[in-house]
Amino acid sequence: MTVSDSTAGNDPTLTEVSMHLVKPNDPVVGRVVANDLCMRGKSASFVRHVAIDVSGTPLEGGFKSGQSFGVIPPGTDAKGRSFKVRLYSIASPTCGEDGAGKVLATSCKRLIDEYQPALKAGDGVNHGGMFHGRCSNHLCDREVGDEVLVTGPAGKRFVLPQDPDQHDYVFFATGTGIAPFRGMVKDLFDGPGGATTSDVHLVMGVPYSSDLLYDDYFRELDKKHKNFHYHVVISREILAEEDRLHRGYVHHYLDKQVQLHQDMLPRDRTLVYMCGLAGMQTGVFQCMARLGIGDGFLKVKEDLQGVDPAEWDASMIKRSVRPTHRCMLEVY
Ligand code: A2P
Repeated sequence: MTVSDSTAGNDPTLTEVSMHLVKPNDPVVGRVVANDLCMRGKSASFVRHVAIDVSGTPLEGGFKSGQSFGVIPPGTDAKGRSFKVRLYSIASPTCGEDGAGKVLATSCKRLIDEYQPALKAGDGVNHGGMFHGRCSNHLCDREVGDEVLVTGPAGKRFVLPQDPDQHDYVFFATGTGIAPFRGMVKDLFDGPGGATTSDVHLVMGVPYSSDLLYDDYFRELDKKHKNFHYHVVISREILAEEDRLHRGYVHHYLDKQVQLHQDMLPRDRTLVYMCGLAGMQTGVFQCMARLGIGDGFLKVKEDLQGVDPAEWDASMIKRSVRPTHRCMLEVY
């Protein structure tokens, strides 16, 4: 199926995408070709850049940056049913990791938790109270050469416009929400057509600076291109006085960073993309509305007009605030 999203004025005409070339009831076999930690330093969490060769399958050349693909972990649940497909954001550019659309990658965070109370796995096995996410750990444990069952691609709205140079971009990410932006930024700056002339700002929020993902790549790009700006926001670390701007959540940064809210966001051609924790949407929408720069990105229904944005909560936003065609959301 081919889908396009065309609207008037400064709304983007999004890149056309293919969807569900490989369905979950008939997955194909991909082969892991790389699996490396992609955090900046030693961290309490583990995020791995896992690259999978999908050549010879319908996924080869069939995905765009910003889309997702599916992974089906092996085995069955306690009731004997096969595990369902899990979706992961593609971290690769449209031409793949290999430049030919044969290898796609994702940024996979190991889900590690505790059962509450300790013995609730339901399979009669003492897991010591630890819960390991089935699919994320399956993927992170794969070695180069191992097979993975994959599906996809999925998603038609979280992609770049057909003519990327017609727009400027503010990308907000938290944690592994950086994945689609790695692909999009590579498309924008390292694509076959050369570097974009658009202004691109990437705002990345993590708990500690050691949790930053693909940090070297984005820093290098920031140095190389005067129209690419990489901003990091750190929520838990105690930062030096001169770095105070970078302390907090991404919306705190938006609030403080004049370059973003006095220059980028008021432009008609700017598009906003957010990927990561759902709470980010609340904070960014409140901040935009309070600064008076939200008009291009959110539509507020009557019942919330006149209500101080500081009072908006997640359920009010869900009910009464809609993103416009210039605001792309992938939050969970
Ligand atoms: P914190 O966990 O300190 O509250 P990760 O996925 O690696 O855990 O990173 C997610 C980042 O997003 C963390 O810095 C986290 O902060 C932050 N975060 C948590 N809640 C929100 C929110 N409502 N808005 C923006 N960022 C958030």
